[in-house]
Amino acid sequence: MRFNRIARLFMIGQSALMTNPPIIRNARSEDSTQIAEIYAHHVHNGTASFDTEPRSIEATVAKIAECAKRGWPFLICADGQVILGYAYATQFRDRPAYGLACEDSIYVHPDNVGKGVGKLLLVALVDAAEAAGFRQMLAVIGGGEPASVALHASLGFEHVGRMRSVGRKFGRWLDSVYMQRALGAGGSQPPEKEPG
Ligand SMILES: CC(C)(COP(=O)(O)OP(=O)(O)OC[C@H]1O[C@@H](n2cnc3c(N)ncnc32)[C@H](O)[C@@H]1OP(=O)(O)O)[C@@H](O)C(=O)NCCC(=O)NCCS
Repeated sequence: MRFNRIARLFMIGQSALMTNPPIIRNARSEDSTQIAEIYAHHVHNGTASFDTEPRSIEATVAKIAECAKRGWPFLICADGQVILGYAYATQFRDRPAYGLACEDSIYVHPDNVGKGVGKLLLVALVDAAEAAGFRQMLAVIGGGEPASVALHASLGFEHVGRMRSVGRKFGRWLDSVYMQRALGAGGSQPPEKEPG
């Protein structure tokens, strides 16, 4: 079932990209330069991230390592040696009781947006986050970016809130849109292991 879903999206991605079949795999430290470049583009040119300074390569290496240490998924989509996009899931907020809720971060290389890469990544991330034990996934969408809202809605995320004018970038006030979907049994059953 899970394989079929990824395989179907893989085919969509393959035809849309019209290149070698893209693969999804865990990020490695040597991917950090390309990952940092993708993020830097979106920090400088978009409102999805409320960062105003890009993350350094060293900080990206540390982020990948932290995810690996905590058992949180950090995935990339690659065409050969070229990283088309990446996605990771981290605990939604730091306090222990949030331990079963994660927030996703997903960024596609500007040359490859709108070609199915984001959907490939998010399908895989949802599966990986569920396997990691998370029960909810939150998307916190800076500026209510339409592509991100559409991507998350297409995978069953529901709109759960909007914080108005909480960000300011490029001389504009920015809202933050919250979308959410349950992972696995969600909140219908207790977890196998309590957080904390
Ligand atoms: C948001 C982002 C990750 C989406 O990835 P993508 O590869 O461009 O999206 P996909 O091609 O996989 O499209 C996924 C869905 O969103 C829709 N979509 C994509 N771009 C869209 C746009 N600009 N406007 C409206 N819908 C859009 C697609 O039609 C598709 O819907 P469908 O499956 O129902 O047909 C990517 O555009 C990106 O990196 N944007 C900048 C950073 C960002 O906003 N990150 C999210 C942080 S929360």
